[in-house]
Amino acid sequence: MGRIILTGDRPTGKLHLGHYVGSLRNRVLLQNQGNYDRMFVFIADVQALTDNADNPEKVRQNVIEVALDYLSCGLDPEKVTIFIQSRIPELHEMTQFFSNLVTVQRLQRNPTVKAEMVMRGFGSETEDDNRRGLPVGFFTYPISQAADICAFKSTTVPVGEDQEPMLEQCREIVRSFNGTYKCDVLVEPDILLPDNLACRRLPGTDGKAKMSKSLGNCIYLSDDPKEVERKVKGMFTDPGHLRVEDPGKVEGNPVFTYLDAFVEEGDFERFWPDYANMEELKDHYRRGGLGDMKCKKFLLNVLNDRLEPIRARRHTYEQDIPGVYGILKKGSEAAREVAAKTLYEMKEAMRINYFEDAALIAAQAEAYRNK
Ligand code: TRP
Repeated sequence: MGRIILTGDRPTGKLHLGHYVGSLRNRVLLQNQGNYDRMFVFIADVQALTDNADNPEKVRQNVIEVALDYLSCGLDPEKVTIFIQSRIPELHEMTQFFSNLVTVQRLQRNPTVKAEMVMRGFGSETEDDNRRGLPVGFFTYPISQAADICAFKSTTVPVGEDQEPMLEQCREIVRSFNGTYKCDVLVEPDILLPDNLACRRLPGTDGKAKMSKSLGNCIYLSDDPKEVERKVKGMFTDPGHLRVEDPGKVEGNPVFTYLDAFVEEGDFERFWPDYANMEELKDHYRRGGLGDMKCKKFLLNVLNDRLEPIRARRHTYEQDIPGVYGILKKGSEAAREVAAKTLYEMKEAMRINYFEDAALIAAQAEAYRNK
C-alpha cells in the first residue's frame, strides 16, 4: 500500500513561524515531491472546541484564517484535499466505536490529557478554587484524533513532536480494533518529524521554550514587514552579550535558533557575504566582536525573503473569501467520501451491517423455523 499523508491544525488563531518550520513547510515539500497516494490537510474545528467551549465564535472565525495560511504557504487544493473536520460526521461514529476500546486509565496516562487534568484541578476537593474542571470532550479527544487519522487510513502524519503520544494512542486503537474484529481495515500511522532539530520546537521571540499565542511571543505568517521588523529587533538574545566585544552564546539564543531553522543555501551570498555559512557566523559570535543587531538584520532579511511569497499569495486569496470557502467545501465533500468508505468497511468487519448480511438473516430465520 502506498503512502497517505494527513495532518491538521486547530483553528484557534493565525498560524505562526513555529507552525511553519514545524510542519507547514514540510507539507508543501511533501506535496511537491508527490510520492504519495493522497494527501489530506484539515482544520480541526471540532477538536478546537474541546478546550474553547467558552469561545466557540473564536473557533468559527479562525477557520478561514487557517485556510488562508494553508493556501498562502503553497498548499495546492488540486493536489491536497483541504477540509473542515466538522463536515465529516463519520468521524463521530468512529470515535464512538473506538471509545469502547480505550480505558479511562489509559486516557489519564496520555501526557497531554494528564497535564491538562492537573492544570484544571481534576480530583481537587475544593470547589472554590476557580478551576474550570475538565470537559469530557477534552478528556476523550485522543480517541477522536485517532478517528481523524484512521478515517483516511493515513500512514504518515506530519506533526510536531508534542503529538507523538496521540499517534501512540492511535496505533493502540488500530491494533485493538483490527484484533477485536479480526480484520485489517485500519492502518497504523507513523509520525513524520522535521529532520532539523531547530524546527521541532521553535522558541518564542522572548526566548521561552515555545512560540505560543498565549505567551504573546509569536511572529505570524500574516505579519507585515514592519511588524516582523519590530518583533525581530525586540528579540531576546544572549543576556551576557552586553558589549559587541563580549563573547556570545548561540545555544538558547533564539536569533540563532531561528537562523538554524530558516537559513537556506545561498542566503549568506545574498544577504551577508562576510560569512560562508552558519558555522562561521556562530564562531564569530562566540569569539566576540559581532553585534546582535547585525545578526538580527540578517535574520530579518532571511525571514522576509521566506515570508514575501506567502504574503503575496495570502493577499490574492483574501480578495476571494467565497472562493476559499468553496475550496473547503469541495475538499470536505471529497474527504467525506473516503471517510464513509472506511466506516463502511469498519461496520462490515464489526458485522453490524445487518441489512446486507444475508447469512445472518437466513441463519436466524432458519433457527426460528426449526423451533
Ligand atoms: N492535535 C493537533 C494539534 O493540536 C491537531 C489535530 C487534530 C491533528 N486531529 C489531527 C493532527 C489528526 C494530525 C492528525 O495540532
